[in-house]
Amino acid sequence: MLINFNGELLQPGEAKVSVLDHGFLFGDSVYDVIRTVNGRLFTAEEHLARLRSSAAAIRLEIPLTNEELLQEMNRSHTASGNSESYIRIVITRGEGEIDLHPRSCPKPNWMMFVLPLHKWPAEWYTSGIKVALVGIHRNPSTALSPKIKSGNYLNNVIARMQAADEGAVEGIMLNPEGWVTEGTTSNIWIVKDGQARTPALRCGLLPGVTRALVLELATTDGIAVDECEISKNELLDADEAFITSTTKGVVPVRLIGRELVGDGRPGPITKRLEQLLRDREQAN
Ligand code: PDD
Repeated sequence: MLINFNGELLQPGEAKVSVLDHGFLFGDSVYDVIRTVNGRLFTAEEHLARLRSSAAAIRLEIPLTNEELLQEMNRSHTASGNSESYIRIVITRGEGEIDLHPRSCPKPNWMMFVLPLHKWPAEWYTSGIKVALVGIHRNPSTALSPKIKSGNYLNNVIARMQAADEGAVEGIMLNPEGWVTEGTTSNIWIVKDGQARTPALRCGLLPGVTRALVLELATTDGIAVDECEISKNELLDADEAFITSTTKGVVPVRLIGRELVGDGRPGPITKRLEQLLRDREQAN
């Protein structure tokens, strides 16, 4: 792993953040995850737009322009020597006093974690994964909005542990009204009667870059899509289900807890969307 820490390329052991950084003390930070495809950044503008929107929502000023962020990501990826990189950009509030208000933090810290892109097991795509409906709710939009990709991910950390307790690789959270929202680091989709459906943003979830791209690819391909409320029963009764994220792409879901999805094999619409996304990536 290589770390670009405020513009300095460092090894993990060399990069140090102060214990007084409010990112460490209060989870007062934002982040986003970008990957390369064919050695080039993929959907970087969309990720940077989301990073800016996350930062604006917590009144954090990003100390670099988008052009500078792109330059730094490219420089770090090249220096890493990775053929494909996972790049995690983190902007923290910076060092200050032990006081919730960030007025004592004059300078945000920014860093990019550059790792070789992880290859997920091939069976995930051929057979599908197990997800679990977890007990913890996604925090409501009226609290810390799920639209903000912040360093305060404890809601999702707990959900991930609850999912792992059931042998699932992803935990699906409901909102306090009982509607399906998203996974801990992915968006959830179902297919019912030939239509691909994903929870509407108003249900309280991260506006996934892959989610938006899959919506666009489906529409262009003539696949019916809907962003709507999805109940727990509708999820369990789906013909097909899949998750989407930057690092994983489109992954078919085989099991939701103990319930088999459809006939237990990745369905035709899931496979089509997975292929459309791969084609789009290859055009990068
Ligand atoms: N996670 N929902 C949540 C809560 C997420 O953290 C993510 C991404 C997604 C999918 O969004 P996108 O398609 O833009 O990657 C949905 C990244 C990959 C992560 O935290 O590692």
